[in-house]
Amino acid sequence: MRPVHGGNLAWAAQLAQCPPSVILDFSASINPLGPPASALDAIASHLTDLCHYPDPRYTELRRSIAQFHSISPDWILPGNGAAELLTWSCRELATLPQTHRLVPAFGDYGRALDAFGAQTVDWPIPLRDGCAIPERERCAITQNRLIPIPATATGGLLLNNPHNPTGQLFSVAQILPLLDQFALVVIDEAFMDFLPPAEQESLIDRVADFPNLVILRSLTKFYSLPGLRLGYAIAHPDRLKRWQQWRDPWAVNVLAAAVGEVVLQDVEFQQKTWNWLKLARSQLFDGFQQLGLNPFPGAANFLLVECEASVELQRQLLQQHRILIRDCLSFAQLGDRFFRVAVRTEPENQRLIDGLAAIFQHGG
Ligand SMILES: Cc1ncc(COP(=O)(O)O)c(C=O)c1O
Repeated sequence: MRPVHGGNLAWAAQLAQCPPSVILDFSASINPLGPPASALDAIASHLTDLCHYPDPRYTELRRSIAQFHSISPDWILPGNGAAELLTWSCRELATLPQTHRLVPAFGDYGRALDAFGAQTVDWPIPLRDGCAIPERERCAITQNRLIPIPATATGGLLLNNPHNPTGQLFSVAQILPLLDQFALVVIDEAFMDFLPPAEQESLIDRVADFPNLVILRSLTKFYSLPGLRLGYAIAHPDRLKRWQQWRDPWAVNVLAAAVGEVVLQDVEFQQKTWNWLKLARSQLFDGFQQLGLNPFPGAANFLLVECEASVELQRQLLQQHRILIRDCLSFAQLGDRFFRVAVRTEPENQRLIDGLAAIFQHGG
């Protein structure tokens, strides 16, 4: 079955008739520089803790996250990936008459909202085709475009910043008025850490002012640990106490907790990632443009690219070059006219550009 998330190498390997290990995976937006040594060391030195239950209060982990964000530990709830905390966010959103979200949207939002019977209202992000934007301005339009949600909308809001899959970054100034408009605002900042601190548009600093604000963060993408599962929510302590009562008491395993206690202090890895991303993303962006494709200017570690017949392109890249890109069929608004790729190391990005060039020039 065609995957609805990136990173499904078993499916790709079957199509490419090769072992999964030889496929170069651009479909999951994971930092290629990781996992950092600090994370692997923490895992190795905590293996003996496997015979104990985790601390159900996650005191050390919460202290470490709190220190990183300069907030009180009571405002933090670690989870089994941002995906778990999305579930509890959606349980709360489902109590409101409507939840508004932007589409295309990360596929798991549908899973979590549907699980609690939330009434969802979708607001399309205007893509280029719908905007009649002149060719020369096309690349500039996704940055700081207005959030396409009417001022009359009420209830809950589920927002993703930077937005997956377009890569668009909304500013704090754009989001602030929505906090007065909606009863509950959940902001999924799973990719925010890919921006250097001075460029981030996080609402974490404003959480104490808005009891109706929930921020979700993931540690699986930036630190390249999707198999470990670790994320956290930042929100009013009363809300987080409620979530803790709803869920399994040990949602985060001991190894993930040990990693979370150290990686946020790994300044060297963070700086290395920001340095790499700036150059590697523009390399990929320019490469796509030179091939006549239309990449969206993304703020995170992935790029959405407009092209013809992306599913056929995906098949050719897989079968001829053993490269996997993310098709956009699971995003109803995008379909076969777009693909999404993670930014990888510069030699790997070059392999993708060369593979695409070969397909465009010689049909393979
Ligand atoms: C926008 C967005 N939010 C949340 C997640 C889930 O992250 P985690 O691995 O921390 O559960 C993903 C994963 O792809 C994502 O793309």
